[in-house]
Amino acid sequence: MELVAAADSDERGLSLLKVVNVLQKVVVFVHTFTVDKLRSQLTRTASEEMPHMSEDIIEAKVREICQELVLSPEVLKEVCDCLQEEINKGLAKDSHPEATVKCFPTYVRELPNGKEEGRFLALDLGGTNFRVLLIEFSSKCRMDSKIYAVPQPIMVGPGDGLFDHIAECLASFIKERNLGNELLPLGFTFSFPCKQEGLTKARLAQWTKGFKCEGVEGRDVVELLKQAIARRGDVQIKICAVLNDTTGTLMSCAWKNRNCRIGLIVGTGTNACYMEKLEKVELWDEVIDDPPQIFVSRSVVINTEWGAFGDNGCLDFVRTEYDNNIDSESVNPGKQLYEKMISGMYMGEIARQVLVRLVSEGLLFGGFASDILLEKGSFFTKYISEIESDKSGDFNNCRAILEELGFNDATDADCANVRHVCECVSRRAANLTAAGVSVLLNRIGEESVTVAVDGSVYRFHPHFHNLMVEQISQLVKPGIKFDLMLSEDGSGRGAALVAAVASRCAAMR
Ligand code: BGC
Repeated sequence: MELVAAADSDERGLSLLKVVNVLQKVVVFVHTFTVDKLRSQLTRTASEEMPHMSEDIIEAKVREICQELVLSPEVLKEVCDCLQEEINKGLAKDSHPEATVKCFPTYVRELPNGKEEGRFLALDLGGTNFRVLLIEFSSKCRMDSKIYAVPQPIMVGPGDGLFDHIAECLASFIKERNLGNELLPLGFTFSFPCKQEGLTKARLAQWTKGFKCEGVEGRDVVELLKQAIARRGDVQIKICAVLNDTTGTLMSCAWKNRNCRIGLIVGTGTNACYMEKLEKVELWDEVIDDPPQIFVSRSVVINTEWGAFGDNGCLDFVRTEYDNNIDSESVNPGKQLYEKMISGMYMGEIARQVLVRLVSEGLLFGGFASDILLEKGSFFTKYISEIESDKSGDFNNCRAILEELGFNDATDADCANVRHVCECVSRRAANLTAAGVSVLLNRIGEESVTVAVDGSVYRFHPHFHNLMVEQISQLVKPGIKFDLMLSEDGSGRGAALVAAVASRCAAMR
């Protein structure tokens, strides 16, 4: 109020008033980015406040706004250099404690040889569902599995509650399948960052992907599972291995493909593992031949946990206001920043935020937002895949999705602009993932490497594979050949394979 009174008195005061007004607008804009305030702003009468713009001008403005999501080859090269540096920090003893890309050795040093045999149980926890599997290897691989939901309150409740839930699902699976009389070896795929202290010991470093169960970080998850099973007292199990889903994906593909050296997940979260030479793993302080190696492998699978790349600020040069918003509204602010630009848990929300901004600037839907669009999380990541699956110039899926979101009279120009937003978000994700894969391919340095890939984004997005191949080809050293192979059910089959290889190595002792 004082400022306003002074401003009335002279010219300087007037400019000050203008500055105050501008500042107020900025504050209001930032504030109104939150859903509730935006609602009132975006339901105003568009014809009164929005200047009329031609479709061409609108398209140009949409492209201009989306430009910050487009990463140039130079920027991607810089991302590669940063990741390379972060991986080196993760693997080196001195820098490991502060490193963000942890590069945990997994104790998996032997890839399957395709001759694995026997029956195994596998547990797979890593997203909104939990699975129990029974897997049988002979010349083929047979699987029987059941999916159990992990209710949201369990995802963020006490740790014991989570492990009791897992134990209950496992017990009911064992009973339903009549497996009570057999002591089957079990592989536990636990797809969160863990510091492994052996093949059957893994301490959770931190939760990701919306999980936040108290009392688990810093603890050995195998021990917690054993305790939960003991609390029930109705089943017997023999846990032979605990692994990350990336390791499972690598193993599952390596079972058939001898060139496989990298396991990649682009799903709810993102991460990659790769075969690294032991001499480059300062952290490795075990005897080289323990467990005994059939092929005397001088390598070990490294779980990079690259989702945390950027948590020290090194990716700030590519992050946008949308990434900042998503991070600050997440259950783990400041963590998993690379993952938050790439994976399925966040991609839809990034797109939604861009769409809301375009509406607020009068560039979409005549400046009107629906209540649904203004709700956090209402634009699912699968919408991106569906919208981009429309043939070019055709907007069938796009229109159906927009109707679900409460837009019944979107124009073709609206649809084209919505599609452009989706393309920018998914291309950025594919390019960033490609940058990560290129770093690993260049590190491995072998002439021909297969990358095993799994995860809903990679699997269901119609162009993700091609976009990645195109980008990796630009970033990889000359002479390195690669292919990306969909690895079916790595988390399940891979867990059984790690258990199988571990049993084989144990038998050799
Ligand atoms: C976890 C990784 C996991 C990845 C993919 C990330 O959030 O930290 O351990 O491999 O998601 O599931």
